[in-house]
Amino acid sequence: MIIETLSTFPHMFDSVMNASMMRIAQDKGFLDFTAYDLRDWTHDRHRTTDDDPYGGGAGLIMKCEPIFEAYQAITGCHKGYSPKITGNEQPTTGPVPKHADGIPPKTVFCTPCGKRFDDALACELAEANRLLFICGHYEGIDERVYELADYQISLGDYVLTSGELASMVIIDAVVRKIEGVLGAEGGALDESFADGLLEFPQYTRPAQFLGREVPAVLLSGNHAEIARWRQAQSLERTRLLRPDLLEKR
Ligand code: ADE
Repeated sequence: MIIETLSTFPHMFDSVMNASMMRIAQDKGFLDFTAYDLRDWTHDRHRTTDDDPYGGGAGLIMKCEPIFEAYQAITGCHKGYSPKITGNEQPTTGPVPKHADGIPPKTVFCTPCGKRFDDALACELAEANRLLFICGHYEGIDERVYELADYQISLGDYVLTSGELASMVIIDAVVRKIEGVLGAEGGALDESFADGLLEFPQYTRPAQFLGREVPAVLLSGNHAEIARWRQAQSLERTRLLRPDLLEKR
């Protein structure tokens, strides 16, 4: 899968995308990730990407031109607008786009106004060959930019300062769904939400710790019993902690 991001703070992705499962997914060839710097598609001395809101108000709004120009350079498409923009087709400092093949990627904006992110949406995004996340900052993005959106996604009813952070949460949840990323055991199948329930409790050695014992059934070697116990625990935990999930099933 190809995942690309376009933002004014591309270095924010460095730590998350170079650690743990996100790094392994790239090293094993499951994920081709690139973070582009929106400022590479600006033309003024200050590399301006935002401006005052029309109609007044606090904060700055991200401008259309660099985003449309970057979108065109990264994707080779000029979806929804004409004539074709001519400007910095190639970035001046950051990575050169490798996939400007004229096929529009599924384009994602993270915004509190979007559809609430959940496991089903993570599965849907994981089916795509290529995702492009366009990350807003500050007070918002010029409304005309949303013409590029296939998805507008919210993580919840709160406001984050950076679209990069929201994108990284979604990227992590999506990449672990790609077949093979979590290894041969098919890791993602057993975890919370995969069947609409919270995950059962898990334990590892030692069997006794400060007087607390691991449930005996898990030491029994009886796999049918263990599966039954886990299913019952999942149900009970969901009933106690997230009864809304049971109503949706
Ligand atoms: N950007 C700012 N706040 C956000 C939220 N709650 N979800 C997704 N993206 C955001």
